[in-house]
Amino acid sequence: MNVLVLGSGGREHALSYKIKESKKCNNLFIAPGNAGTGRLGTNVHNLAIDDSKAVGAFVKSNSIDMVVVGPEGPLVAGIHDELKSDNELSDLIVVGPRQAAAELEGSKDFAKKFMMRHHIPTALYQTFTKDTLDSGQAFLETLDAPYVLKADGLAAGKGVLIIEDLAEAKQELKNMLVDAKFGDASSRVVIEEFLAGIEFSIFALTDGQGGYVLLPEAKDYKRIGEGDTGLNTGGMGAISPVPFFGDSLREKTIKEIIEPTIQGLVKDDLPYQGFVFFGLINTEKGPKVIEYNVRLGDPETEVVIPRLETDLIDLFIAMGNGTLDQIEIKFNPKTAVTVMAVSGGYPGAYEKGKVITGLRDFENTMVFHAGTASGAEITTAGGRVMAFTSFGGSKEEALEKSYAALNEVCYEGINYRKDIGFDL
Ligand code: AMP
Ligand code: GLY
Repeated sequence: MNVLVLGSGGREHALSYKIKESKKCNNLFIAPGNAGTGRLGTNVHNLAIDDSKAVGAFVKSNSIDMVVVGPEGPLVAGIHDELKSDNELSDLIVVGPRQAAAELEGSKDFAKKFMMRHHIPTALYQTFTKDTLDSGQAFLETLDAPYVLKADGLAAGKGVLIIEDLAEAKQELKNMLVDAKFGDASSRVVIEEFLAGIEFSIFALTDGQGGYVLLPEAKDYKRIGEGDTGLNTGGMGAISPVPFFGDSLREKTIKEIIEPTIQGLVKDDLPYQGFVFFGLINTEKGPKVIEYNVRLGDPETEVVIPRLETDLIDLFIAMGNGTLDQIEIKFNPKTAVTVMAVSGGYPGAYEKGKVITGLRDFENTMVFHAGTASGAEITTAGGRVMAFTSFGGSKEEALEKSYAALNEVCYEGINYRKDIGFDL
């Protein structure tokens, strides 16, 4: 199989490493990739992944059999539909839903309606536009603080506001709807009831015909500061398995959330071959959905995919054939942790192009590149730079290995959290 992975982060590096492990992998391309993926396959720097015509042309000229779409942008824009509209590509396997189904991430209102229709537990909500600003502000008055405001559309992970003060929440609602705080993405705003509890994530791969396999659960650490304080980031680390995800919570989650979602996609005729990311919260009243994403999480992928012992290409082939229900999936039962090294200043302003020293093939730690570039030397090229993943019999043992590797790697301004998994 010739495989093309779209994306350039730690998620895509981890996917590429697992794809490369498969005996079925012939040529591996990553567009645009990073310094890490370049060691596993061919980086295609000049292929714009949101240009589906260009991706289609690349697929044809390189006899690609399988396209794995990492981030949500191209999926929400309809890359799957565009590729499959070409008769010559009817056998191509595309990992990632079609546009109609990608709306589960592309529109929060769409996702909420889907959950309501299929009786999937989630926060109570209402959706407003600028014409209904007054009723939106009145709705806020009926809720208890804190207030949760969500831009309906994609807003690069920044579209959710959680506000303590009612007056401020009313003002922000206006900023979003009337003053287009998040551009077009906030022309509709979902206002939700605040849910208290601990968050975790589950990933499924579904074949669009009701068949699916569950990947291991994970928990990510979003805030920049220790003790989960400070600004939100793309993710500072992750751990899998999640100790509190025991048998009874697992059973409840599968019965009340996973199965109704997979079946709901079929019932609603939403063509979905790909990963479903369930962002969940364990509340006093049981697990509820905070959000769906139509891709894997980053940095969750950097712990979930290394735990996978089943051939990933076999999983994608079964997905393409609609036979995932016949697959038994296997995992390493050990604990995997990943610690993300970021640029100084991130998630605020930061500098790129810092030379990274000390990188080598560590015996006990996998390094997944996120924002790196290769030239004469490997340099930083983003806010999140590299994820350090290790296994252990306990989270402490795994963390010790990742921190030992991190101690050897250096670049100006390097920063990482020293408390991943602290709350478990
Ligand atoms: P989202 O982009 O929907 O994942 O929201 C970003 C973050 O906001 C989530 O990871 C949660 O920490 C938080 N959040 C979103 N919705 C709620 C809610 N209804 N109650 C509490 N926290 C929420
Ligand atoms: N780590 C959360 C995400 O990928 O959206």
